[in-house]
Amino acid sequence: MAILVLGGAGYIGSHTVYELIGAGRDVVVADNLLTGFQEAVHPKARFYRADIRDRQAMDQLFEREQIEGVIHFAASSQVGESMSDPLKYYDNNLGGTTVLLQSMVAHGVDKIVFSSTAATYGEPERVPILETDKTVPTNCYGETKLAMEKMMAWTSRAHGLRYVALRYFNACGAHPSGLIGEAHDPETHLIPVILQVPNGKRAKISIFGDDYPTKDGTCVRDYIHVSDLAQAHILALDYLLAGGENNVFNLGNGVGFTVKEVIDVARSVTGHPIPAETCPRRAGDPAQLVASSDKARTVLGWQPKYADLETIVSSAWAWHKSHPNGYHA
Ligand code: UFG
Repeated sequence: MAILVLGGAGYIGSHTVYELIGAGRDVVVADNLLTGFQEAVHPKARFYRADIRDRQAMDQLFEREQIEGVIHFAASSQVGESMSDPLKYYDNNLGGTTVLLQSMVAHGVDKIVFSSTAATYGEPERVPILETDKTVPTNCYGETKLAMEKMMAWTSRAHGLRYVALRYFNACGAHPSGLIGEAHDPETHLIPVILQVPNGKRAKISIFGDDYPTKDGTCVRDYIHVSDLAQAHILALDYLLAGGENNVFNLGNGVGFTVKEVIDVARSVTGHPIPAETCPRRAGDPAQLVASSDKARTVLGWQPKYADLETIVSSAWAWHKSHPNGYHA
């Protein structure tokens, strides 16, 4: 029996496929390659170019392959874009997941682990954030992810499917092998944007606001290595295969770093001065997002291995230095 990874050519999906194959699992990848890269797909995975909104393609996949569980990353994930083009997010994230679940139910595939996000919480009431805290998304991306969680819950009730939703905090870093890493176009995430400076692709980094109620006025985030996220997907799938109930888990290190602290770590890792300038706040940014991941540690036995920010930024730097143009280097 194989594991189907939807969106397995994307950033977190490709790292999860590497972990699965490393653990000796049989892996099928489907990706429409709109934002993913064929080069990121592990050579031992069976690859299908397919879109989750395409019912026929999903049906064919479940007919051809013996799938014991699905890990679902296939979604649009840019917060800013979700505000300017919300219907793209409803179409891809909710429309796509609807078709996927219809096909899974029709073929009796009843276990799914999928990407949710810290953006489901919106402006948190307190940090660290617990899974039981209020979910009031402040952007359309978070809204569609929260709706995906609810879609799973209702489908579970009606059809007996079981799911785990993983609410990621700030995914970053790259695979220790240096073979795969983060590649978005355009790139908006803090660490890869900072690293564009020592890579000669940008003159300076813009700090979006230094008047937040935090220790140095810049936003605080919980940065979690992509390989640690990948590991959590395998644990979540094994939890479902062992009969585990529907569940939701935060995934973060539980430690917050300000934007200025991240820039300082990047300066020390790269040896480059990385000039920075303060700019106005970016719309929709909460001041602080820090996870309590106690539940994932206790229930899934998850133990992040790359928790140290220097290690995370070093792994990202190794990838970006050797792939200044991502997979098209
Ligand atoms: N930032 C800058 N300058 C930049 C880029 C980012 O100062 O050039 C700041 C942002 O304002 C924010 C922090 O760096 O305070 C982190 O920003 P990212 O864009 O890297 O990440 P976000 O926290 O905005 O978003 C991440 C994920 C989303 C997810 C969200 C949860 O990328 O998918 O966390 O809130 F939805």
